[in-house]
Amino acid sequence: MASQSSQWNNNTAFLLAATGSAVGLGNIWGFPYKAGENGGGLFVLLYIFFVITLGLPVFMAEVFIGKKGKSNPVTSIETLAKSSKSSSRWSIVGYGGILASLIIAGYYAVIAGFVINYGFISASGVEAGAAAAVYEAEKANFWEMTFWFSLFLFSSGFVVANGIDKGIDKAMRFLLPMLFVLVIAMVGYGAVAGDFAKGLDYLFSWKAEDFSAGTIQAAIGQAFFSMSIGMGTLMAFGSYMPSNQKVSKASAVVVTADTGVALLAGLAIFPLALGLGFSPNAGDTLVFVTMTEVFAQLGAAGQFIGPLFFFLLAVAAFSSMISILEPSVAFLSQKHSMTRMKATSYVVAFCFLLSLVSVAGHNVWNTLSVGALDNPFEAMKYFADDFLLLLVGTGMSIFVGWRLEKVIDADVMGIQNKFLMNLWVFILKWVSPIFLMVIWTLGNLQILFGIRFF
Ligand code: TRP
Repeated sequence: MASQSSQWNNNTAFLLAATGSAVGLGNIWGFPYKAGENGGGLFVLLYIFFVITLGLPVFMAEVFIGKKGKSNPVTSIETLAKSSKSSSRWSIVGYGGILASLIIAGYYAVIAGFVINYGFISASGVEAGAAAAVYEAEKANFWEMTFWFSLFLFSSGFVVANGIDKGIDKAMRFLLPMLFVLVIAMVGYGAVAGDFAKGLDYLFSWKAEDFSAGTIQAAIGQAFFSMSIGMGTLMAFGSYMPSNQKVSKASAVVVTADTGVALLAGLAIFPLALGLGFSPNAGDTLVFVTMTEVFAQLGAAGQFIGPLFFFLLAVAAFSSMISILEPSVAFLSQKHSMTRMKATSYVVAFCFLLSLVSVAGHNVWNTLSVGALDNPFEAMKYFADDFLLLLVGTGMSIFVGWRLEKVIDADVMGIQNKFLMNLWVFILKWVSPIFLMVIWTLGNLQILFGIRFF
């Protein structure tokens, strides 16, 4: 089928949808816990550094492929490969992205299900000292977890099935403002009820002794994940961009908003946790155990602030989930000529099965290790986030830098300055592929085989 696709009917839709995509569990659940695990300040500074030097250039490359190719991730790459006389096998980069998106959807929905469940748990009040036991009990309950993730998955599928204007754009217009108000309210509360100075110091002070390959990998991985790079979301959203919108400006706005919310999330969580005497290094249970304990200690106020915090997380997760489903829905509906409704049903059904596996990884299959990874949930997370996203990111970077150099036009990009344009192409050609592949290799050797260099 021809690669025609629809278009956003206004100029802010891309900005809203891409920001809604970028700002998600990665910012409010992932960023603070990884910063906490990696010692705070140094991780945060590395993160910001990589967002600017590697993230933004690759982000622009992904949006460019979509905008220029004007179709789903696979067809866009095929079209551009043809026009630049490159092999049609480049489409594997698009397929890799779609594969990553399906796997991410499978575990993302499960964490989001936890979030909704915790909204209710914290509203009904948790006894001080009981948060860890509550988490263990929730995690052990296969059917309850299945109920919450299904609710989340089916409602995000419903929005996607309704199309890009009546579904995605409409939902983002109301979710995003809510998200910003909530995150600012949470920062305000943290500043009043917690220790703001301690939080600020934790987030930004440089601790050189924490420097290691692991910290660098964590910072890059987090940057790419948080910006929604590497699974076709940005290609799909970019393909709906009106022709007069510029890739560089739009990308810069989205990346700034995304990084801003990650930092704000840190400023909402750390002052509260540190102020009440908790260390923020609990790992991925930071929001579910540490923060639930914080809310429990706050008593009646906690029963109000806790649900608000989890509601914020749920809103952020919902707008991201929509964007995680979009690449495969666009692919099926355009490439295989299906209605969006039908395409969404297939995608959601498939993600449902994957989510069941990922729920089982928390309880019935929690000792079923996959290679060096503890359980199927960890394995999915690892394979998508650390393995596939960086590979696809590298592929896009090489494709745009090396194969599309002649196709890039300053007008679509909105980069008139020659130096900046050359710098962008140089980063795509040399800096990001080499850097990403070195980190990818070191990280995989360490995690899969236990081989460490530094
Ligand atoms: N960026 C989102 C977050 O921070 C998650 C996400 C949405 C994503 N779309 C993506 C991650 C595409 C990688 C690729 O939670």
